[in-house]
Amino acid sequence: MSWKPRPNHPYAHAPRVPEGAAIPLDELVPGEGRFEIEIGPGRGGFLFERAASRPDARLVGLEIRLKWAALVDERLQKRGLGARARVFNADAREALGRLGPDASVAVVYLHFPDPWWKKRHEKRLVAGAPLLDGIARLLVDGGELFAQTDVEERAQQYEALFAAHPALEPAGDAPGSPWLAENPYGARSPREHRAILDGLPVHRLRFRRRPRAAEAPFG
Ligand SMILES: C[S@@+](CC[C@H](N)C(=O)[O-])C[C@H]1O[C@@H](n2cnc3c(N)ncnc32)[C@H](O)[C@@H]1O
Repeated sequence: MSWKPRPNHPYAHAPRVPEGAAIPLDELVPGEGRFEIEIGPGRGGFLFERAASRPDARLVGLEIRLKWAALVDERLQKRGLGARARVFNADAREALGRLGPDASVAVVYLHFPDPWWKKRHEKRLVAGAPLLDGIARLLVDGGELFAQTDVEERAQQYEALFAAHPALEPAGDAPGSPWLAENPYGARSPREHRAILDGLPVHRLRFRRRPRAAEAPFG
């Protein structure tokens, strides 16, 4: 990782995932409690609500925009949550692969991650195959990957991508299906609140990390 914010950037002070090949999550949020990762928290509302609904969890947000990483991390600290909820500036597609140890994360959240819909924006998609490999590696056996979007085409793309991963199995409302009617985490993202207010349909998917021993050896 060689990119650095220009020193005069107004949010150059945003906390960043340290450089290096194997960054222990414990280094990012020391202490006790299961880890949950939110990719692209934006304005951060979910982290505050989740910190309230799951007080035993350690929450790590990975946010590509310096401004939101800096502001949300500061607000978490001001609210007294900084010891168990942090946001780091990072491109999750790059940083997730450097976090560890394997099998240490209970839930990964992807709330409305890819709003772009134009063909030329496809290369910017966050939720792609490399990210998914990192998520599968980090999740504990039975750990959850939750994604939601108001773009139906994106939801279909995620379903196809996640379902094709050998380490993941659908964990929605009905057996064998990944679709969830509701968000079961007692916390909503800002975009989710907005979509609900605007009456937009929200497509929600949940997959679970298969037990490692049960994985197909050549899957
Ligand atoms: C549409 S916003 C959704 C924000 C929030 N998750 C919500 O639901 O309200 C997508 C967020 O993902 C962030 N993002 C986009 N690409 C990213 C990447 N590669 N790594 C980390 N964050 C990313 C954007 O900066 C933005 O904050």
